[in-house]
Amino acid sequence: MSLKILAIETSCDETSAAVLEDNDVLSNIVSSQEFHSDYGGIVPELASRAQIQVIDKVAERAFAVSGFDPNDINLVGATKGPGLIGSLLTGLNYARAFAVTKGIKFIGINHIESHLYSCFIGQKEIEFPFVSLVVSGGHTILSCVNGYFDYQILGQTQDDAAGEAFDKGAKMLGLPYPGGPEIDKLAKDGREDFHKFPLAQLKENKYDFSFSGVKTSLLYYLKKHHKQPPLSPSRGAPGLRFGKGELNDICASYQKAIVTSLVDKTIAAADEFGIRNIAVSGGVSANSMLKDSFLKMQNHGFRIYFPALEYTTDNAAMVGYCAYLKFNYAKLDEEYFHQSILEPAFAKFLW
Ligand code: KG4
Ligand code: ZN
Repeated sequence: MSLKILAIETSCDETSAAVLEDNDVLSNIVSSQEFHSDYGGIVPELASRAQIQVIDKVAERAFAVSGFDPNDINLVGATKGPGLIGSLLTGLNYARAFAVTKGIKFIGINHIESHLYSCFIGQKEIEFPFVSLVVSGGHTILSCVNGYFDYQILGQTQDDAAGEAFDKGAKMLGLPYPGGPEIDKLAKDGREDFHKFPLAQLKENKYDFSFSGVKTSLLYYLKKHHKQPPLSPSRGAPGLRFGKGELNDICASYQKAIVTSLVDKTIAAADEFGIRNIAVSGGVSANSMLKDSFLKMQNHGFRIYFPALEYTTDNAAMVGYCAYLKFNYAKLDEEYFHQSILEPAFAKFLW
């Protein structure tokens, strides 16, 4: 019998529901909250309150698009963390209530893990081992994936995540939230070699990342070249006036610094471990320069995997896909399906 999965994702400000039949995505509905851009970032309390309002409608839509009835579902998966606790609990409560009332199994899914496997949605098989780079608004993790759910973490960010570096840099430049897509767009008409924004060199572990230095160097650039410098990275500078093409050039150079660090470390790890498969995922994997830079490495014998654009930023399809993989390959005992809501939400943020 096939698995008919309802998946729910509410780790941050998105509210998403998907229906899958085994590893086949039948629907993937994502409701985004535009209003956070008025505050320059996510306001957690507002995020979860808005999610409570829409989650049922989002799930109904996912059923309607899939052609499945709620009574067809025999497995529920939902993001259990990491994420905003109010948002997580909203999705988890909804998903668990669904599973309990229908008497079906529930799987709590780690958000980073669901990003990691999103590269393979729609593919028949996953070829192991591969080097994984997960780059999102909250995480930057480089790991070696030897088999299903078998990871060796090589490096992580020591301060800001890559997405955060994009978002905070954009804020300093007076661009709306989320800043990653804005910088990406403006950078297309800019010069990458306009200015060198240096990155901190990490001595302890060459596969760790640090993006706070690049943010500070942008702050110094703005202080030096503009009369009204921003006071701090968090307060932004909406009043800045840029010269012709300057904003595009800054975005291109700033983006180049972040992308170079991500690509260089990933390729170095793949070389060191003799691995030819590389999978890049998470919201920042939507970045066009990051994608182009990695795809160029295909000419050097690497096989590069990116998620389809709709699976890059937070979405429930990747949660359902990960639930499918967990159910089939993770050798879960019966107890796993009966975890309480609070346990996965607070205690088990494990891979
Ligand atoms: O994976 P995601 O949706 O949420 C988290 O799990 O954090 O990632 C959101 C992040 C934001 O920081 C956003 O600015 C970034 O992904 N992002 C991008 C692009 N699209 C989204 N960053 C750079 N270039 C993009 N095109
Ligand atoms: Zn995410």
